[in-house]
Amino acid sequence: MPAEIIDGKKISSEIKESLKEKIEDLKKGGEVPGLAAILVGDNPASQVYVNMKAKACEKVGIFSEVYRYPKELPESELLKKIDELNRKKTIHGILVQFPTPRRISEEKVILAIDPKKDVDGFHPFNVGMMLAGKPTFLPCTPLGIQELLLRSGNDPSGKHVVILGRGSLVGRPLAPMLYQKTKGANATVTVCHTGTKDLLGITKQADILVAAMGRAKFVTADMVKPGVVVIDVGTNRMEDSTTKSGYRLVGDVDFDSVSQVAKAITPVPGGVGPMTIAMLLSNTVKACEMLSTNRSAD
Ligand code: GUN
Repeated sequence: MPAEIIDGKKISSEIKESLKEKIEDLKKGGEVPGLAAILVGDNPASQVYVNMKAKACEKVGIFSEVYRYPKELPESELLKKIDELNRKKTIHGILVQFPTPRRISEEKVILAIDPKKDVDGFHPFNVGMMLAGKPTFLPCTPLGIQELLLRSGNDPSGKHVVILGRGSLVGRPLAPMLYQKTKGANATVTVCHTGTKDLLGITKQADILVAAMGRAKFVTADMVKPGVVVIDVGTNRMEDSTTKSGYRLVGDVDFDSVSQVAKAITPVPGGVGPMTIAMLLSNTVKACEMLSTNRSAD
């Protein structure tokens, strides 16, 4: 039987609807959540993502500002802008779209953002809080994956989750998030990477397989066990002359073959992508709630 499709678009719409109500309440109390997004350079995918994030803010009633800079922007100028936004009262969340041009240190950028406005959950303070099992900002894509699993009835608790990829945006933070002894986690987690031997032997054990290594259609039906739940984080551009843009997006999973054996699977596009944006909005609302609570306590 073909797999159930886990519809990230639909689930993210439900989350955004409930955020709208929270935002209305905040507005009644005189607070408007605000997000500042910074884009340096002209990476086409990053431009698309930043535009999508700004549009999503507008739709739910979050105030947003987008700062676009040429790739020649000196690192010091970017750090100055972040400092200004850290102090700006109308801004509760700051994100710098990655990757930045190579001359700009992503580490310095992350460290420059006030952890209280770090809606990406990348600052070492927030990463440390997460590893300690304390409430904090969690990175948007891993958080979106966790929500997708829960809201599609695939609670990871007690399951063997195999993550393909140890990248800083997905695999690395997702593993500790899912093995913690908390609601919606409590899984046994294996992370596979370029040093993994007998990959097939491990992927075949997965109850839940998360593909996040950035290789188009890498996961095929022979690599998974029947009944597996598959989360595809890949967004690889493949040339396609039949589309207007000249390309189409494909995941890290060979959807056509894997969907014949899986119990459930996320599509690309329309799976994890919309959830990442919904979680960014959710983190921005959370930042606004926390910063306004702190201000009224002053
Ligand atoms: N580039 C790819 N994913 C992300 C993300 O979640 N946040 C930021 N800031 N940049 C990204």
